Parts: sequence; C-alpha cells; structure tokens
Amino acid sequence: MLKLLKPGSTIGMLGGGQLGRMAAASALRLGYHCHVYAQSADEPAVEAASDATIGAWDDFAALDRFADAVDVITLEFENVPPEVARHLAARKPLRPGVDALATAQDRIAEKTFLNSIGVETARWARVESSATLEAATQSVGFPAILKVARQGYDGKGQIRISGSQVAETAWTSLGRVPCVLEGIVAFEREISVVLARGQDGVIAAYPAVENRHENGILQETLAPAALPQILAEEAQATAERIALALDFVGVLAVEYFIDGPRLLVNEIAPRPHNSGHWTMDACYVCQFEQQIRAVAGLPLGSTIRHSNAVMTNLIGEAVLEWQTHIADPGAHLHLYGKNEIRPGRKMGHVTRVSPVARPANASR
Ligand SMILES: Nc1ncnc2c1ncn2[C@@H]1O[C@H](COP(=O)(O)OP(=O)(O)O)[C@@H](O)[C@H]1O
Ligand SMILES: [Mg+2]
Repeated sequence: MLKLLKPGSTIGMLGGGQLGRMAAASALRLGYHCHVYAQSADEPAVEAASDATIGAWDDFAALDRFADAVDVITLEFENVPPEVARHLAARKPLRPGVDALATAQDRIAEKTFLNSIGVETARWARVESSATLEAATQSVGFPAILKVARQGYDGKGQIRISGSQVAETAWTSLGRVPCVLEGIVAFEREISVVLARGQDGVIAAYPAVENRHENGILQETLAPAALPQILAEEAQATAERIALALDFVGVLAVEYFIDGPRLLVNEIAPRPHNSGHWTMDACYVCQFEQQIRAVAGLPLGSTIRHSNAVMTNLIGEAVLEWQTHIADPGAHLHLYGKNEIRPGRKMGHVTRVSPVARPANASR
C-alpha cells in the first residue's frame, strides 16, 4: 500500500557514512527530518542529520529507540545484519526490504538470484569447504578471483589467484569464510546503472556511466558512458529487470563488465552508489533525492542529464588538493567531513560538468 510521508516526518537512515550524509541533505530539503543510526558520533552523516542514535549493530535496545523515533527506515550501509533488518522491519517500514537486502549482501545469494532470472555473470562457483574450493577451481579455471561472500567493499576481501596450488593459501588468508571463486573477466570497460523504484513500481533510471577503478576502488566515473546505444539500453533494461524481480523500493545500483558483445553483471548495491554521485551536479534530480522520494512514497523526480560529468573520488591524501578543486569555477567539490585521512579512504569527490546540447538519455 502506498504510504505517503508528509513533510515533517522522520526518515531513519541505517549507517553513518557519506552516502547517509548526502541523503540527509536531500531529506532536509524536502522538509523531512533524517535520523541516523551510526556506530560513532564522528561518522559523516551524523552532523548532517537532525538526530542520531549511536549504537552497535547488535545493540537491540538502541535499535528499538531508533525505530521508535522514525516513520520509515532506509539505509546507506548494505551490510546491516539480516536479524537486525528483520527486527526493524517488524517495527517500521524498511525500504528496501529484508529479502532484497539479503540477496544483495551475500555474493552467493546475489549471483544465484541473478543467474536464476537469466542475468549473466562471470563464471563463478561457491566455496565453503576444501572440497568445494577444489571443485570451484576445476569449474572456474584460472586466472580467478576469490571474494568473501559477505562484507567485502572497495576491493577488500578479494584475492586474485593464478593456479590451484595457491587456492588453499588464499582461502586461508581470507579466514576460510564462505566465498565465491570468479573467473577474471578481461573486460573492455566497467559501467553501471543507478535507478530508483518507487512504492508504486515506477522506475526512473539514470543513463549508464563508465567507471574506472584502481586497486578495486572507484577512481573516476564518466557520464554518460561512451557506449553503443544497444549496450546502454541493455544495461538499463537488465537493471530494471533486477529491480522488478527483487520488488525493490529505493535506489539500486548495478555494476557491469563489458566483455566483447556481452554484458555481465558484477554486483548490485541496494542503495545510492558512488558511481551515481555525478547526478548531484548533472541531473535534474539526484540519486539521494530519489532515495528519499522512493522511501517517502513521493513520485520520483526526473533523471534527465542536463550536463556531461566527470566525477573523481578524492581518496586518502588526494583530498589535500581540495584548494585546487575549489579554485576551479567549473568543479563541484564535495567533502565528507572525515577528520582522519587514511590510504584508500573516500574523503570526498569532485565533479566537473560541461553542458549537453540537448538533455537526453534518461528514462523520464
Ligand atoms: N571477475 C572479475 N574480473 C575482473 N575484474 C574484477 C572481477 N571482480 C572484480 N574485479 C575488479 O575489482 C573491482 C571491485 O570488485 P567488486 O566485486 O565490485 O567488489 P567491491 O564490493 O569491493 O566493489 C571491480 O570493479 C573490478 O574492477
Ligand atoms: Mg563493486
């Protein structure tokens, strides 16, 4: 049932990172309060939110206080433990829902689901024991990449392996937790599609963008991706099919490898995505506002791209260049308010835009 949240209501946000910070700003602009559930008071979203509950993921008393204080719950952190998601969903509407989250947060469930709806992925096999590791190396072949099934991000929890002799050692160094073994894809490019799906099932997708990673971390997003139209359309259609099959409400990102004529899905994220940050400065309505609109039961906004964009992440010490970026009149600088610079840590991003002759490439 469509439940429209009136301005003045409170949106609960699980997770205190930069994605929550940017979504909180959108919530505020639409007249909502945003109440963040964060692990510590110095997380980026806390200062952007009207309120925060600080607690661990297993602190059910704190989670209950949070649930009592909000009207609807969404998230910026996809690894919310399944029992926490179920607990909260029994108290307040959780969007996206428990099943979509469970699928997106476990690479085994994710790939099983994708293949079950006819979406192609890299060749893969599950690894849960020495016997399944051995079977996986046989069926996947080499070179391959071993990834922890749960909790990985920014290339963490992944090891490339060249042959079966190192497979056991690699799995041991990942803690012998459930993993997937994937064939390495010699992709030409990586692209992604970010879309929003409302409670009424209406989907608004942004055009496909190209992503460049370094050491498994997103470095740069180019919008739009320079792609044959047919691939761009296929990427968008596939993302929509995934959203429908998950009965998804909120913002969903789908990452792809382009391997010759084939489009393979790498992974999905049940939340706004780093490769959608460019929409803040180059689209009519950005991915964070879409998240708020979707979970609040509002109509989605237009995904029309009014500018071309290059989004560059400021990772680790790259943030020290902020004065150079702010001095560039065409650059939109976004800083996440993180005090401590660490290698590989996302500290901010900068988006450079240039006008398009005629807005195009959007679904609405
Ligand atoms: N099977 C693969 N073949 C080639 N490159 C890969 C493969 N899996 C991951 N990568 C590279 O590593 C990056 C991060 O991997 P990903 O599975 O997206 O994990 P994360 O959750 O850390 O984003 C990808 O964007 C891609 O550049
Ligand atoms: Mg990824």
